[in-house]
Amino acid sequence: MKHIVLVGFMGSGKSTLGRLVGAQLGMPFVDSDTLIEQKIGMTVSQIFEQLGESAFRELEHAFCQDLERLTPSVIATGGKLVCSVENLALLRNAGHVIYVNASLQTLTARLKEHKAARPLLAGIPDEALFRFVEDEMTLRKTYYKQAHFILPNESNRPKEAVDKLVKWIENQSSSEFTPKN
Ligand code: S3P
Repeated sequence: MKHIVLVGFMGSGKSTLGRLVGAQLGMPFVDSDTLIEQKIGMTVSQIFEQLGESAFRELEHAFCQDLERLTPSVIATGGKLVCSVENLALLRNAGHVIYVNASLQTLTARLKEHKAARPLLAGIPDEALFRFVEDEMTLRKTYYKQAHFILPNESNRPKEAVDKLVKWIENQSSSEFTPKN
């Protein structure tokens, strides 16, 4: 049994899908941001403000190193957690890595509604958000694309994406146990 690790940009729907997939497969759901907040006793915004972004990125790295000690779970990761060679290798080793993907337009529209609690978006006016998402995506997509499976999540009805992911996971598990002659 392995972890199911969801990676992808802020607003792609990792937490929403992760919670639903966990419930469907009977696996615990874990969010890297929440675990880091609980460990440090500060919110992600407070960590960025008081300790700096690089301290947050070190906490994300420690989270990846600790994954092997965690019960098999569905894990939603912070948007940039997978964007380092070391973290990507740790995640791929810990389980199935799934890239939850949506268009730049969809991500921007979702993020306009959910800017609070995301320190990287704090100073960005709505009209500059698309450009920010586009530029960041250019930097991040080489990492995202190294996932084991790409899961589009364009609509706001998650059922379609949940079903697709559950089907893919069930396929992986059955092929893992198929004897090869
Ligand atoms: C970040 C994404 C956030 C959180 C932090 C930084 C990023 O997580 O880890 O605000 O750099 O993309 P979500 O992807 O869950 O919003």
